[in-house]
Amino acid sequence: MAGTQTLTIIKPDAFGAGKAGKIVAHLEAQGFVVRAARVMHLTAAQAGEFYAVHRERPFYQSLVTFMTSGPCMPMILEKEGAVAALRKAIGATDPAEAEAGTVRKLYAESKERNAIHASDSDDNAVREARFFFGEAEVIGAR
Ligand code: CMP
Repeated sequence: MAGTQTLTIIKPDAFGAGKAGKIVAHLEAQGFVVRAARVMHLTAAQAGEFYAVHRERPFYQSLVTFMTSGPCMPMILEKEGAVAALRKAIGATDPAEAEAGTVRKLYAESKERNAIHASDSDDNAVREARFFFGEAEVIGAR
């Protein structure tokens, strides 16, 4: 999948506010294809493991609390240059700094409650996709 796929999560703020459909439509209109999707309510252990790279950051506990506050929607998205393309499409971490027309500018509330996650490298895209999906759940993987 390296190079053509990435992992995204519509976070609990956006999912809970009923914005998932609009965000998926926004991304599909930009050429992303959904290869896997599920709706799940993360446990603290799952959220803590997913964001383990941020364990030493001051916002880590708050991030885990937020990510376990309600259901979220992980997806594998496909497009040429998927990782860079999705990061451009979602905009800066802080919606106040995100470019006009990006998902976070349109739908995020704050730097923490920022509507959507996107993998930051091809290696992490593979790791994060495996975190959420088994091979049988990914369209085109068999
Ligand atoms: P994400 O792209 O999923 O990666 C890590 C997440 O931590 C980020 O989106 C935000 O939800 C959150 N985050 C990053 N920086 C901060 C911060 N300074 N304060 C609070 N939350 C943050």
